[in-house]
Amino acid sequence: MTRKLAAGNWKMNGVKASLAEAKTLADMFPTPTIDILLCPPATLVTAMADVLTGTKVSVGGQDCHMNTSGAHTGDVSAQMLVDAGADYVILGHSERRADHGETDAIVAAKTVAALEAGLTAIVCVGETLAQREAGETLDVIRAQLAGSLPDGIDLSRLVVAYEPVWAIGTGKVPTLEQIGEVHDDMRATLTARFGGGADTVPLLYGGSVKPSNAAEIFATSNVDGALVGGASLKAADFSGIVSALQ
Ligand code: G3P
Repeated sequence: MTRKLAAGNWKMNGVKASLAEAKTLADMFPTPTIDILLCPPATLVTAMADVLTGTKVSVGGQDCHMNTSGAHTGDVSAQMLVDAGADYVILGHSERRADHGETDAIVAAKTVAALEAGLTAIVCVGETLAQREAGETLDVIRAQLAGSLPDGIDLSRLVVAYEPVWAIGTGKVPTLEQIGEVHDDMRATLTARFGGGADTVPLLYGGSVKPSNAAEIFATSNVDGALVGGASLKAADFSGIVSALQ
């Protein structure tokens, strides 16, 4: 049975006072039937983990370094995220690929580091608008999966998120057919490479997910949850998405 996951990515948003939203959300779902996750900026991981102690909402980071320690100013290691109370880390988000030049090889190395530290890795892939318009979507996603996922990965601690770059924060969402086509292809690609165990890897959709469109997206083939940006910042919005997945 594939786990279902509603994950919130706060990106570079949120201050200490925002943790009240996390607590409100957790209090709304004392016994969820799905996994719920919030990924605040690194500065808030410890405080959020404290606020969510005893609840069913997990905490994650938004990135980690591929090395365990050393001279890497401004970076955070996977073990540091674990120390801070995180169970997950988002890796290879398109904003990091674009802003920080993260290649598939770098994402794969970070994935190894995350799993070695005991985290579950949410590895992100997604095409640009130019790539979709050129009919390259499936080739791009297959290549990103091939390069970003290391061999021999522990599938029980892997989540893959499909986030079309053009749908992030734009209010534009692919058609359900387009989402289903990519998710079915990702499942087939993972199964071809890793075998039957890939059936249980949650495949998330991300990009302008809102309470109003969540249910139809979750009803789409091989969609096991969502990676949500803007609509994860407020408990009132994110709770609607969590409810649609339950
Ligand atoms: O990682 C989540 C993301 O990139 C989607 O952002 O704001 O379109 O939900 P948003």
